[in-house]
This record gives sequence, structure tokens and C-alpha cells, in this order.
Amino acid sequence: MNFINVNDIGPLDRAVAEALEVKRDRYAFQHLGRNKTLLMIFFNNSLRTRLSTQKAAMNLGMNVIVLDVNQGAWKLETERGVIMDGDKSEHLLEAIPVMASYCDIIGVRSFARFESKADDYNEIILNQFIQHSGRPVFSMEAATRHPLQSFADLITIEEHKTKARPKVVMTWAPHPKALPQAVPNSFAEWMNKTDYEFVITHPEGYELAPEFVGNARVEYNQDKALEGADFVYAKNWAAYADPNYGQILSKDRSWTVSAQKMALTNNAFFMHCLPVRRGMIVTDDVIESPRSLVIPEAANREISAQTVLKRILENL
Ligand code: CP
Repeated sequence: MNFINVNDIGPLDRAVAEALEVKRDRYAFQHLGRNKTLLMIFFNNSLRTRLSTQKAAMNLGMNVIVLDVNQGAWKLETERGVIMDGDKSEHLLEAIPVMASYCDIIGVRSFARFESKADDYNEIILNQFIQHSGRPVFSMEAATRHPLQSFADLITIEEHKTKARPKVVMTWAPHPKALPQAVPNSFAEWMNKTDYEFVITHPEGYELAPEFVGNARVEYNQDKALEGADFVYAKNWAAYADPNYGQILSKDRSWTVSAQKMALTNNAFFMHCLPVRRGMIVTDDVIESPRSLVIPEAANREISAQTVLKRILENL
């Protein structure tokens, strides 16, 4: 079993029920991970994913090895057919089976590079691990998706919703750097599998890939989108559409989620995957308010990771 996208977890109601069972007693499944080793490989920085996934594996009784590819390992070449006369000492095609020989399960974090849309959307790093490791592989955020985050987001919404079909609004917000579409793509993919009312709002030019937007309503007027929202999910992303792939088209702070924006909603909860830029994505008062779910959302990363690892261990 690999865990790359929403389809790898089966029916979402069952996945959430299992996650809540894990949360009630997170040490109940320690026998599953005995004498099993998780290797976590990071091509990019992380705070939450690193700590929550390691904690989840330890809850399951696993041993954990963490490798930061860019700090202490040989610099890895990822393209096939190149003359390796530069600064990259080892090829991923040797490194992957070597790393796989030391573990039972592999978690990979590898962001979009914005050098080639085709490479990013073909997930060339993650797919090489799937093809060449011979081990179950799960995404700890890849170029196009962040499924452990979306699963934690779903658990958090299920824990806090007060109606069967809440209105969930994902809003673009400004950021000084070009960020990948993985979190918004993935959140949309998971929300589209629920029966929630799901709305996406962003400035023109920030349209996400149609396969992720699915049947969501896209509303270019943020104020209109926020009306009656029960959950506001803020995130920045760089442009997806050609010819602007990977570019910043706007830093318009009128899109920052402020108390005035939240006043348009149905006393909505505020959500963000973190890390977040205060004053750009969200104002201090909103993120510090009692309606902010950013901390419980991050805490649920342990639960989503543990539920996925539990499933993989049960299928080894
Ligand atoms: N939300 C999230 O994935 O955080 P990190 O980048 O710190 O892991």
C-alpha cells in the first residue's frame, strides 16, 4: 500500500472513524510496529511533518530513521542520462534501493521545484521512490499534493462542525514567496470527496488545475465567497496556469484574512496548515482568536500520520 492521494485511504467516513479510534488510545497498536523501521526522507524543510510523523511511528512501536538529503547526505542527482560532472555525488537510482535496504516503510517530502511544470505534476521524485524502492511509500508532501495535511484538516473539520453539511471556503491569501499548489490541490481533492459545500476563492490568474478544482464553486469575489462560511481555510499558492506557472501575480493584502473578513462568515473557524506569515495570510487577532483551529489542526497531523502508518503496517 502506498499513500499518495485521497484515493489511497478508501471511504473517508471510515478513515475518520479509524483516526478518532487512534486518537482515543494512540498506544493501542504498538504491536504493529515492533521490529519495523520507518525511513523519513526530507528534500525540503519541515517542522510539523517531521515531528508528527516520527511521533506517530513511535506510538506504533516503530524505529525511525530521518535523513535530510540536503544536510549531511551526498548531494543527489535526480535526472537520468546526465553526465555527473557537477556537485552531485550520488544518483537517486542507487540511493533509493540502498536506503530501502535499511527500512520497511519510506516517507518522502519533495516539493515542486517550479523548473518544469511537467516534472512537478508527474511527481518525478516521489514516483522514483515508488518504482525503485520495493517498499510502501507515503507522501509527506510532494510536488502536487499534501495528503497527510488534508487528512488532518478533514479530521479537524469533522471534530468541530456543528451541521452535517458545513460551508468550507478555501481562500488564496498573499505571500512574499512563490509557494507550490500542493496544499490547496490536496485540500480541494479531499473536500471534493465529502458532501460539504466547498468554495474556492482567489484572484484571477490563480486558477488551480481542473482535476483538483473538480466540482467546487470558484468565486473570484472573496467577500462574496466568505458569506455564511463555517470554515475558512487560508493558503497562498503561486500561479498554476501557463505561461505563469510558479509565478507570483499578486501580493494584494486586501485578500489577507482579517477580523473584517471573518465578520462576513457564520462565525467561522479559521484554518491554515502552518507555517503561516502573519500580516500577509492572516492578522494576529484572527489567528489568536478562540475560533482559530491552527493548533488542533497541527496536532491532528500526528493522528493522520498514525492512521496511515497503521494501515500500511497492517498490509505489510
Ligand atoms: N504543514 C506542514 O506540512 O508543516 P511543515 O512544513 O512544518 O512540515
